[in-house]
Amino acid sequence: MARSTRELILNAWKAGTVVPALNVPHLPMMEPIVAALRDTQTFGLIQVARLEWEKFQAKSLKAIRDTYSQVKDERYTRLHLDHVPVLDEDNKRVDFEAIISEAAELGYGSVMVDGSRLPLAENIACTAKVVAIAYRAKLPVEAELGAVLGHEAGPLPPYDELFASGKGFTDPVEAQRFVQETGVDWLSVAIGNVHGAISGAAKSQKKVEARLNIEHLDRIRALTGVPLVLHGGSGIRKEYLLQAFRHGIAKINIGTALRQAYEKAVPESAAAARQAVYDATVTTMRDELEIAGSAKIINPGS
Ligand code: 13P
Repeated sequence: MARSTRELILNAWKAGTVVPALNVPHLPMMEPIVAALRDTQTFGLIQVARLEWEKFQAKSLKAIRDTYSQVKDERYTRLHLDHVPVLDEDNKRVDFEAIISEAAELGYGSVMVDGSRLPLAENIACTAKVVAIAYRAKLPVEAELGAVLGHEAGPLPPYDELFASGKGFTDPVEAQRFVQETGVDWLSVAIGNVHGAISGAAKSQKKVEARLNIEHLDRIRALTGVPLVLHGGSGIRKEYLLQAFRHGIAKINIGTALRQAYEKAVPESAAAARQAVYDATVTTMRDELEIAGSAKIINPGS
């Protein structure tokens, strides 16, 4: 029987390596991403966030599931539901329970609820509700604590100030309480990482080169004891990334690097856009994350 996503992420975590989770904001990106994972023998998750069917062309949870079903390769891929916010980037309330339930019915292998814009107690309460829904479907749940900025409209605060001050970083003691009280499987943390912009001119511009506070990550790791997740994975300085994978980060989300490759090439032709996504995925796996060949560690014997 195919291994569950819970087990696959645990395998990466124990081995000190990482599972890339690749966003699909445009449906034609799916096939070249899966092909690149297969050709580099890398294990990865294909994922979609709510904002990608609201603001990009992922269309719907079902459209993503159907496209995935046509091209999936279970030696190298599983399907994950990324960011379902409780309060979204425009400060609107979202019916997160309905979206998570729909994903479970459609056959997604894992889900994320994002209550990180809420006060701690409310984030815990909403996350616990999702854990209860997911438990019935035997799905692992990812949640977020701390502020991974970047999806909101308007400019980011200056990055160097943000990094030096540690403002918005996940608090390790809060993280311990959060994991204990929610029973969440994986925790997305803020340790210097930021999301690529999704609106305005910044959406097509080069992302700031983020750094990571590895000592801070160690403090979170020591108190939580669950696989940790790094959002905003595009464009982080490589020396930090490779350390982070050995210090508890078992899943890394990559969106902007692949989306920008697609959007830049699409005016030329659909074939050029397909090739651009394929090439960007191969480069990211092989040269930036250095995880080509990871399937034999994460999903052995399949
Ligand atoms: P980037 O777009 O910055 O790679 O982040 C992706 C992400 O974290 C999606 O959840």
